[in-house]
Amino acid sequence: MLTGGGDCPGLNAVIRAVARRSQVRGHEVVGVREGWRGLVEGRFEQLGPREISGLLPRGGTILGTSRTNPFGLDGGVERVLANFEQERLDALVAIGGEDTLGVAARLHEEHGLPTVGVPKTIDNDLPGTDYTFGFDTAVSICTEAIDRLHTTAESHNRVMVVEVMGRHTGWIAVMSGIAGGADVILIPEQPITVEQACGEIENRHARGKDFSIVVVSEGYELTYESGESRQVAQEAAVDQFGHIRLGGVGQELAREIEERTGFETRVTVLGHVQRGGSPTPRDRVLATRYGLKAADLVHEGRFGLMASLRGDSIVEVPLAEVTGSLKTVPEDWYALAKAFFG
Ligand code: F6P
Repeated sequence: MLTGGGDCPGLNAVIRAVARRSQVRGHEVVGVREGWRGLVEGRFEQLGPREISGLLPRGGTILGTSRTNPFGLDGGVERVLANFEQERLDALVAIGGEDTLGVAARLHEEHGLPTVGVPKTIDNDLPGTDYTFGFDTAVSICTEAIDRLHTTAESHNRVMVVEVMGRHTGWIAVMSGIAGGADVILIPEQPITVEQACGEIENRHARGKDFSIVVVSEGYELTYESGESRQVAQEAAVDQFGHIRLGGVGQELAREIEERTGFETRVTVLGHVQRGGSPTPRDRVLATRYGLKAADLVHEGRFGLMASLRGDSIVEVPLAEVTGSLKTVPEDWYALAKAFFG
C-alpha cells in the first residue's frame, strides 16, 4: 500500500481498513514509504496490528507521501518493477489523486502491475467517483473559517477575502461558500470578472450590508471585462507531474476590491490548514468503505480498478477512467451559489 501526492485527512483510515480486512484473510500487509519514491528506492515497512492501531481519527499519513513520478525519472519504472518483484509483493493499493492513480493505471496497463486505486484529494476533482475522501474535512474547515470571518467582518464593516485550495477546480470554494453564506465566490471553471465581483459588493452596500465575504479559489484567474485574464502562482517552476504551485490570488483580488470600491478589505489564506488534522466522521466512513473495497478487489485478484462512490454505493471503476481529465464544478452547482451573491 502507498499514499501519494498531497496528504489528506482520511488516508490513515484507508490504511487501517485495507490492512484490517486483509489481515483477517491471512494476507501480509506492507507499507511503501513516501509514495512512488518508496517503490523506486525500495523502502518498505510491515503493517501489523500494532502499526494500524489508533489510525481512524489521525490526520496525515503514517506512510509518508511525495509527489514523485517514476515515469519522470531515469530508470524509475524499471526500479519500481524490480523492487515490487524483489519484495515478493502480490498487489499494490495506491491511495492518491489524479497523479498517483495515473501512475498506477499506466503501470497496470503498460507493465501488468497488479494495482488497485483509492480516490483521495481535498480538491474533489477526480472523475470516476462522486466524492473523494478528504473533501468533506476541507469544506468543514473552510466553512468554520468563513463563519468566524463573518463576525469580525461585520464588526469592522470590512470586505473579507478568503482564499481556499482546490487547484484547477472550485469544489472547495463553492461548497464552503454556499455552506458559509459567502456573498461572492470566484472559481476557475466559470470565472466572473473582477468588475462583477466588485459590483456585487457595491450592491450589498447599497442595500445596507456594510460587510462582505468573498471566497476565491486559488486557481481562479483574475479576469477583467477587457477580456484580459491572469493566473497568480507562487512560482513558475512545475513539479514532476507538471503542476505549478498556485496561491496568492486572494491578496491581489483584495487589493483590486479595495482600490475599485473604496471599502476596507482584508485577506485570509487558509492554506495547508485545510489538509491538516482529523477527518470528519463522513470522511472516516467514506475512507473506511473505500479501504474495505480495495482490500476486496485485491483478494478477488481484480486489478486495474479503483474503489468509487456512486450515489450511496461503493462500486469499482477502471483506473483508466480517472486519469487525463478533471471533474469540474458543473454549471448548476455554481448557479446555486450565485443565487446568494450580492
Ligand atoms: O491537491 C491538493 C492540494 O492541497 C491543492 O489544493 C493545492 O494546490 C496543492 O495540493 C498544494 O500542494 P503542496 O502541498 O505541494 O503545497
